[in-house]
Amino acid sequence: MIGRTCQDVFTQYFYSNELPCLYSHERCPLKQTIETGESTSIIRKVRDANGAEKWEDRVFSPILDKDGNVIYVMESVRDVTRFKNLEKMYSGMQELLHRVVHSSASAIVAANIKGKIILFNQAAENLFGYAANEADSINIRDVYPPGMAKEIMKMLRNEHIGGPGKLHLTQATIIRKNGEKIPVEMTAAIIYEDNQEVASMGIFNDLRERLAVEKKLQEAQAQLMQSEKLASLGRLAAGVAHEINNPLTSILLFGNIMLERLEKDNPQAKSLKYVLEDAQRCRDIIKGLLAYSRQSSPSKTVFAVNSLVEESFNLIRDQKMFMNVQVVRELCQEAIYINADKNQLSQVLINLIINAIDAMENEGELTCRTFVDPKTNKACIEISDTGCGILEANLGKVFDPFFTTKEPGKGTGLGLSMAYGIVNENRGRIFIKETGPKGTTFRLEMPQALPGDDQMPANGKIEEIQ
Ligand SMILES: Nc1ncnc2c1ncn2[C@@H]1O[C@H](COP(=O)(O)OP(=O)(O)OP(=O)(O)O)[C@@H](O)[C@H]1O
Ligand SMILES: [Mg+2]
Repeated sequence: MIGRTCQDVFTQYFYSNELPCLYSHERCPLKQTIETGESTSIIRKVRDANGAEKWEDRVFSPILDKDGNVIYVMESVRDVTRFKNLEKMYSGMQELLHRVVHSSASAIVAANIKGKIILFNQAAENLFGYAANEADSINIRDVYPPGMAKEIMKMLRNEHIGGPGKLHLTQATIIRKNGEKIPVEMTAAIIYEDNQEVASMGIFNDLRERLAVEKKLQEAQAQLMQSEKLASLGRLAAGVAHEINNPLTSILLFGNIMLERLEKDNPQAKSLKYVLEDAQRCRDIIKGLLAYSRQSSPSKTVFAVNSLVEESFNLIRDQKMFMNVQVVRELCQEAIYINADKNQLSQVLINLIINAIDAMENEGELTCRTFVDPKTNKACIEISDTGCGILEANLGKVFDPFFTTKEPGKGTGLGLSMAYGIVNENRGRIFIKETGPKGTTFRLEMPQALPGDDQMPANGKIEEIQ
């Protein structure tokens, strides 16, 4: 218009020569305004007289004649340095926030008022099993068990739980993409804009590892309590057993002498026989108590576990018991050796087998497995039945001496407590692996005798089973 480039004009007024027409000609806003008759603007960085960085907003507004032709262009310049700095700060904050959210070890999820997911960080991808781009297509309700999302919103809106719009640390369950249910600890909040709910957000932490450790700790505590209880009962039992053992020996000795001296048809002979039978039963109980309290010393040999199983089955005198019981043997093909008192362990197995048959009321399937546990490298014998199972309330009592649920005269309640004492004495472990209405499995775990161990013959041959 004035026959000079705008650069020529502007350099007179401004400190920089970085002017609009330094941009490619096509993008020159002044030219655009002249050509289009519409306002254009440009935001540029400039330096003031002191060299400080400034931002200016130049607006080119056309002034038109009555035919719509541009006759003047009015240019206004505004200092927008403050806005620009604020904008920079804001986008920096946003970037920081984005990084904080995405590098958080806790899963962070936000959803809009309709439940559509609008934020899903990396930890959420790991916990929920959805990739962030898939999360767009799921609803927040899908990651909770049915009804739970509603329940959480209800709690969030309840002023008495965590304050308005807030939910303090709560345990919940979430559902992963593959359907797996995962226990979590979560906090949640409603996001408001002008007092209107616009979104909700939750922060989740996987509880699986912590719960597993807590469970192990509880089990260890329960086991410790059980061992302490059994140890003190053992001491008591040993004291009583010793006291009763001596008079009982005399009763049996002199009773038998009397019986021998009595004529066979003497009417007192029958009564004396009953006395002696009961005295013998007391003696067996004492023997059991002594074994339980580890007062009888085991005589150890090295033998194969499968031979122990076979002998124990053969030793059960009342074979009628097995009439309606299907016995399944899943015995390890390879020989597993242990170093223990075979007779004592046989008593343990016999009791486990008889207990299993009793629990099935003589009808069902009894499975005996022998194997080496790959985790612990221990020799294991498991006896499973399809019986009634053990009530949860009785789980802590079955190894107690004299605990029985059997009718009077049928069980003394000494079998498992004896087994506990014997197995401990032989450096093993006996425990209920599982129990429920479909049956029970008891596991006996013993350290393996391996070639090269002190107890094994140097050539690895074991006389007993050759
Ligand atoms: N396999 C099993 N299934 C269900 N309950 C069982 C099983 N094994 C043991 N029990 C429960 O544990 C109790 C204690 O067992 P334990 O062997 O110590 O004594 P008992 O069998 O009752 O008597 P005893 O062995 O002295 O003849 C049993 O009375 C029964 O209630
Ligand atoms: Mg028993």
